Amino acid sequence: MKCRICSGNVREFFDLGPQPVSDAFLLPPARADEFFYRLRVGVCESCMMVQQAEEIPRQKMFHADYPYRSSGSALIRQHFAAVARRFLETELSGPDAFIVEIGSNDGVMLKTISQAGIRHLGVDPSGGAAEVSAECGVRVQVDFFDETTAGTILARDGQADVIYSANTVSHISYLDSVFRGVDKLLADNGVFVIEDRYLGDILEQTAFDQIYDEHFYLFSVRSVRALAQLHGLELSGVEHLPVHGGTIRYTISRPGRRAISPEIARLCALEPVDFAVFEGFARRAADIRDALTTLLTGLREQGRRVVGYGATAKSATILNYCGIGPDLIPCICDSTPGKQGRLTPGSHIPVLAAESFAAPYPDYALLFAWNHAEEIMAKEQEFKRRGGRWIMYVPEVHIV
Ligand code: SAH
Ligand code: TYD
Ligand code: ZN
Repeated sequence: MKCRICSGNVREFFDLGPQPVSDAFLLPPARADEFFYRLRVGVCESCMMVQQAEEIPRQKMFHADYPYRSSGSALIRQHFAAVARRFLETELSGPDAFIVEIGSNDGVMLKTISQAGIRHLGVDPSGGAAEVSAECGVRVQVDFFDETTAGTILARDGQADVIYSANTVSHISYLDSVFRGVDKLLADNGVFVIEDRYLGDILEQTAFDQIYDEHFYLFSVRSVRALAQLHGLELSGVEHLPVHGGTIRYTISRPGRRAISPEIARLCALEPVDFAVFEGFARRAADIRDALTTLLTGLREQGRRVVGYGATAKSATILNYCGIGPDLIPCICDSTPGKQGRLTPGSHIPVLAAESFAAPYPDYALLFAWNHAEEIMAKEQEFKRRGGRWIMYVPEVHIV
């Protein structure tokens, strides 16, 4: 397999078997023609980019009915408001500043920029989410960002001082086109700021559920530095953040324009280069699968009721890799309107409204939204008080 970034040799380290489109929640009844592909990941021996073997057509994942909404979490709303305020105080403080966001979803970040009266544009192919953002006063173009889209934006709006993208660039297999677009659109002294889940944290926590169709790449400082360099740009800054279980904010600029943060070299030195690290990760993931299915089967035999909490995209990987269905988890509670009343992809577990969690409380709740554990456990204290227990599977299967 050839690297999608640098054409180097990619060594496969993990086969997660047949998987559905992770955010394709089905209207019941389940249909026999549901789309599956084989999810396999490898690491490039040259640029160290972790990537999937198979590309899915982008329209299958992102379209008018794409259900994910960033604003579903209060902590995520706070995070993006803070991101926006920082841009307003720095890169966007000059005259006639302009920011483009790739993957603006429901406008969670650009809302603050719009309220400040700053020129902006969100680009996102998910029409339903874009509609929500437009209602918040966000200017949005329902489109996939690539070289062509960048050309249209440049001709109409001029160059951007900031191109920002959170949890989206890693979703895009055609990064060559995206980076050519960024190169066109970015002002000479502009910054391209990317936030994405960090490979280092994923490996350390054995968070293998972060691997699913949308996460086509798992970024590391080494691989993003190589990616920027291949496209005539420079990685100048990195910040390690706790968001989504471990994120890095990468600042990319034109060569020589910004001081290079020493944090880049420090993090690179900690990153794995030995293939055995990736093989170890895949082995630990298989151990988690065995421990989780053993636990759930045992609880069923004891007559305990276990429900899921958070119909995350991540849960598609866990459920389909472990072969968990409605016989072990009868339902999953989730606050997202576009997921409720539907079935989880591949595993066909009904998704219910968050309120049904308490009606009545189960004996155990399997927390698929473990990256929001603090927020969810604070909100669901009554469950614990009545003797309920949380089942976690990151970094290993345990009961809280
Ligand atoms: N930035 C938000 C949303 C992340 S979800 C957050 O961090 O919470 C990923 C988003 O990327 C989806 O809304 C999806 O529609 C969008 N997306 C996928 N491919 C894209 C592309 N090529 N250009 C712009 N947006 C894209
Ligand atoms: P998230 O972990 O952010 O992303 P992904 O789908 O990429 O894995 O998804 C969180 C899910 O959990 C989302 O469907 C909304 C749901 N959720 C709740 O039901 N209640 C909550 O309090 C929070 C924070 C999330
Ligand atoms: Zn490569």
